[in-house]
Amino acid sequence: MLEVRRLTTGYGADAVVHEASLEVRAGEIVALIGANGAGKSTLLKAISGLLPVRGGEVVFDGEQIAGVSPKERVRRGLAHVPEGRQVFAGLTIEDNLWLGGNANRRLGAEDSAQRLAEMCARFPVLAERLLLPAGNLSGGQQQMLAIARGLMSRPRLLLLDEPSLGLSPLLVSGIFRLVAGLRAQGMAILLSEQNARQSLAIADRGYVLESGRIVLAGGGKDLLDDPQVAERYLGVGKAQAGQGAGEAAQLAARLGKILQR
Ligand SMILES: Nc1ncnc2c1ncn2[C@@H]1O[C@H](COP(=O)(O)OP(=O)(O)OP(=O)(O)O)[C@@H](O)[C@H]1O
Ligand SMILES: [Mg+2]
Repeated sequence: MLEVRRLTTGYGADAVVHEASLEVRAGEIVALIGANGAGKSTLLKAISGLLPVRGGEVVFDGEQIAGVSPKERVRRGLAHVPEGRQVFAGLTIEDNLWLGGNANRRLGAEDSAQRLAEMCARFPVLAERLLLPAGNLSGGQQQMLAIARGLMSRPRLLLLDEPSLGLSPLLVSGIFRLVAGLRAQGMAILLSEQNARQSLAIADRGYVLESGRIVLAGGGKDLLDDPQVAERYLGVGKAQAGQGAGEAAQLAARLGKILQR
């Protein structure tokens, strides 16, 4: 469905993402994990057309779309839910949703209304507040609205950037359940997350981005079990073991000094 081939992109004079290749097949959740500043958001922006591609290809449904406008990409079934929610705080929840629907002109007015009704059914918390300004919503509710707005265009592939960021553990679980539910309905999702553990746990496959380069790829479960991933992204393994050993050595040295007294 989506094939990114040796994509290079960035801001100003500097490239941030270097020759990244990845693939998302129909109906898959693909996790893109990486540390703060690795280039995850930058890569997503190039896929949705918010940033120009400097090299390489973005192929969607077999067609090269690297030169296609962001709006046209939405029309073709590719929606991007950006990092940090970016809902229009002064507009009502309903208007925020309409904006998502309007992004896809292939949908007629009736179809958009149908879609709004579907969003209300899926997100009762939004349905109850349709006429309130989006700024009144809590962080978790705003994330729901951002996702619902993305869904209004009826995407077949959803680019989701850090949906769990800044949310309480309970809400984070809710977001991951929602993402798994979208896959169950046949949607493909490219999920960029710093929360490597939970995103790899639900992902069919995953990619690890380090300093703008894809350094590792594999099945979600395989990456979860990979010692390198565990050490760098799950907070377990060598690094902690090393730290623990260091602390033990320090303690022993201190104990030694005490005993010498
Ligand atoms: N608008 C911008 N202009 C210039 N440089 C930028 C811009 N946005 C991001 N960068 C730089 O690009 C690099 C990658 O940033 P990016 O936001 O893609 O990382 P990320 O993996 O999404 O990180 P995070 O997990 O914090 O969201 C960083 O060095 C960042 O400073
Ligand atoms: Mg980011």
